Amino acid sequence: MRILVTGKNGQLGRSIQKTVNADTKIGNNQSPNEYIFVGKEDLDLSSKSSISHYFGNNDKFDLIINCAAYTAVDKAEKEQELANQVNHLAVKQLAKIANNQQVRLIHISTDYVFDGESNKPYLETDTPNPINAYGRTKLAGEKVLQTAMPMNALIIRASWLYSEYDNNFVSTMLKLGKERDELSVVSDQIGSPTYAADLADAILEIIKHKKFRDVAQTTQIYNYSNEGEISWHEFAKEIFKIEKIECKVNPVTSQQYSTPAKRARNTLMNKDKIVKVFNIKISNWKSSLNTCMAILKQKQ
Ligand SMILES: NC(=O)c1ccc[n+]([C@@H]2O[C@H](COP(=O)([O-])OP(=O)(O)OC[C@H]3O[C@@H](n4cnc5c(N)ncnc54)[C@H](OP(=O)(O)O)[C@@H]3O)[C@@H](O)[C@H]2O)c1
Repeated sequence: MRILVTGKNGQLGRSIQKTVNADTKIGNNQSPNEYIFVGKEDLDLSSKSSISHYFGNNDKFDLIINCAAYTAVDKAEKEQELANQVNHLAVKQLAKIANNQQVRLIHISTDYVFDGESNKPYLETDTPNPINAYGRTKLAGEKVLQTAMPMNALIIRASWLYSEYDNNFVSTMLKLGKERDELSVVSDQIGSPTYAADLADAILEIIKHKKFRDVAQTTQIYNYSNEGEISWHEFAKEIFKIEKIECKVNPVTSQQYSTPAKRARNTLMNKDKIVKVFNIKISNWKSSLNTCMAILKQKQ
């Protein structure tokens, strides 16, 4: 398969590149897949003409994995138009192209499509109700994708994505924890972190799966994150524990720690569907965090 991966400089895009490269190096790459990784400079999702130009000037792909997105949750409140272009309108255009050219599409979405008011883990079929601009644009992206591409696309909703690459909760905590004696971290928002390398592995497993490759299927949504449920406060404490950082972590409420974009209270997601359909094994958040932090240590 010729596989196009967007967002090559982002956390998930880089994690997929790393897994693909590692597979190729140790000779495990049994499928003759050709990966093409692109960034904003090659394919700008904020520009309709950049998208049509890119697909008009490249040979047909068999699969698109859309890891690119406008992900600045707070900034999106002010940049709604740009966030909407990248997370919604570009997805519509990609889905139309994919549908016309009979290309499969894997698109990544978010737990922020939910309002967080449920007291049990969200199922894929639960009604979304985003409470911030980012969530609204991502939900609009899901909806147009499902309409434009009723068959052969897959939407994976992830939550609290982090990686060994910069600009995520783990990297921020490590930086602040080394600079300060104490920190306040929100303790009333519950969810499950997603280690980007685990999600990359899951996506590559899905691609290999018979059910994805051979069968024409209606477009489906799947939830994915690591196992376990924690607050941001517990997440921060565990990061400092592993790294032996002596920084006190004070629990605060969302009300005490206000942000431009509202955050959902409980965005735990039920992962039974992805486990059952694609036989995906999901690690516990603590073991994946340890793996990520061991990699970060090697990089120092
Ligand atoms: N981060 C999270 O906590 C989280 C949680 C749940 C779901 N997700 C979803 O998971 C997916 C991957 O997230 P991530 O954390 O890997 O995101 P990320 O690190 O922010 O990467 C997103 C990538 O998209 C690219 N991008 C932004 N605007 C673009 C444009 N106009 N044209 C082309 N590319 C553009 C960015 O390019 P530049 O680097 O050049 O700006 C960046 O490389 C996204 O769909 C996101 O919504 C993320």
